[in-house]
Amino acid sequence: MKMVKDPKKLNKHLYPLIKAWSKKDKSVEKTNAGGGWHSPTDMNFKDEYKPLVDELFAMQGEVYKDYGMEPKPGLGNMWANINYPGAYNKQHMHPNSMWSGVYYVKVPKNSGSLFVEDPRPGPNILLPRRLNDLPRALWRVVVYPAIEGQMIMFPSWLSHGVEINESKEKGEKGWRVSVSFNFIQINKEGNVG
Ligand SMILES: [Fe+2]
Repeated sequence: MKMVKDPKKLNKHLYPLIKAWSKKDKSVEKTNAGGGWHSPTDMNFKDEYKPLVDELFAMQGEVYKDYGMEPKPGLGNMWANINYPGAYNKQHMHPNSMWSGVYYVKVPKNSGSLFVEDPRPGPNILLPRRLNDLPRALWRVVVYPAIEGQMIMFPSWLSHGVEINESKEKGEKGWRVSVSFNFIQINKEGNVG
């Protein structure tokens, strides 16, 4: 989890572009539900989104250092999401990728958080009745509140979803706007692998 250098500036740049794109291209049906808009997944090839792509590569570079990965990451695909009030994202994983994540452009109050589920089958089978106030290490589902300007990256095999947008704001004030992406691994020859 990390904030970009200048969230206000970046989001002021991104929001009108994504809004205009959503009027132009039809939604792609993926994990979006409840009427949300999912852009085509070629966002990383569009020059106007380079400022965000640069931030994503900088953070992914830090992940590579932390996890001892080498030689370098490649951005497999990237797309924008608009969750209008009532929209959400079904629980899912991102197959054929290494690291996935999200960047938040616009987050109205109560517009839904990202949640991730314990990936271990054992603890998901044995669910004893327990206290409500469990220590962090025993949580089965962890919710990460969405924060404008924040990037979150997680392993692509981690099952996750986005809660329903319950914003009471009218019109575009209630839109929750984010960008999702998948990083792959590039080998020394510059190919995927
Ligand atoms: Fe996802």
